[in-house]
Amino acid sequence: MTATLITGIGELTTNDDELGRLHDAAVIIEDERIRWVGPAARAEPTDARVDVGGRAALPGWVDSHTHLVFAGDRTAEFEARMAGQAYSAGGIAHTVDATRAATDAELTKTVRRLVREAVSQGTTYLETKTGYGLTVDDESRCARIAAKHVDEVTFLGAHIVPPGADAEDYLATVTGPMLVAVAPVVRWVDVFCEKGAFDATQSERVLRAAAERGLGLRVHGNQLCEGPGVELAVRHGAASVDHCTYLSDNDVDALAGSWRDGSAAGGTVATLLPACDLSTRQPLAPARRLLDAGAVVALASNANPGSSYTTSMAFCVATAVLQQGLSVEEAVWAATRGGAKALRADTGDGAVGVLRPGARADLHVLDAPSVTHLAYRPGVPLTCAVWRNGAREC
Ligand code: NIG
Repeated sequence: MTATLITGIGELTTNDDELGRLHDAAVIIEDERIRWVGPAARAEPTDARVDVGGRAALPGWVDSHTHLVFAGDRTAEFEARMAGQAYSAGGIAHTVDATRAATDAELTKTVRRLVREAVSQGTTYLETKTGYGLTVDDESRCARIAAKHVDEVTFLGAHIVPPGADAEDYLATVTGPMLVAVAPVVRWVDVFCEKGAFDATQSERVLRAAAERGLGLRVHGNQLCEGPGVELAVRHGAASVDHCTYLSDNDVDALAGSWRDGSAAGGTVATLLPACDLSTRQPLAPARRLLDAGAVVALASNANPGSSYTTSMAFCVATAVLQQGLSVEEAVWAATRGGAKALRADTGDGAVGVLRPGARADLHVLDAPSVTHLAYRPGVPLTCAVWRNGAREC
């Protein structure tokens, strides 16, 4: 057993209902877990001690939506978009071609690079999706590569119908042999329920097949226009519906209602992807409206080469505060505990997104006296130290 006392924390955001926010605080990390959290003056001595000199600390970011297994580059598509062209699901096919042509070693190198980049900015728990292979072999190798480098893997065979394929035949593959092949290494199944991808009936087919295999459900929905994604996700008890850029009043009510009437596991989190909204020149998702209605909101990077090529959760937090009407506390919670709820990883031994005894030892120290600086100093790299699963990463 190795214990480290991290002391001199000027402001500690715990996200724990009882502990709340502490000042002059300390945390004891023992192996992969938090052993103790409290006032620095009451901390017991340990083998090792790190004084963070009055800086602010918080749980590591929980990035609950990324697409890190890919090859190729879509700079030209981004440039065209900035010159006025609309984003569409069609661009995904370019990444599919490049990903199929890439070797396992090349895909691994990209995933490792992006995970390193994210961790160095304070992200300590990552989900990533398949979805750029779209054959049984390519989806399963992408899932296997992802499983070696991130905390949670989602199967997104239902990303688009690959060019040249028949939609019904492809769906039969996704819900049949592809699902069977990836099931041993994925926890979640997702579907892109959107114009240009899959309609409500097709999406429902994917969700039912996933539920029959006992896998958790997620939905990409309401990204490019209002549509059936949110209703479908809530009705099927999905852990999260991601994007939520265009929401009707009924969608907002359904998301809020899922927490009043939902299962013991929890309702459906509205996962907002502000970097994607900006990079695709869409309006920003209605974060304030969702919170005011009682919905649970998560913020995630949506790191991918097409619609959101960033791993910066701090950028998402700053955008949510500066442009989406969230307080700093709400945005930080959404990027930590909210992400954990979206992955149903927020309770029990090893919970993430929270600092309390028994939680996973994921700690992010800022080179700033308070989390307010995340929005007050947007774009400034404030990460000073990171512990991920008990190990010091930077
Ligand atoms: O979450 N919306 C669908 N999938 C990704 C985009 C992928 C791409 O454009 O390559 C997303 O934005």
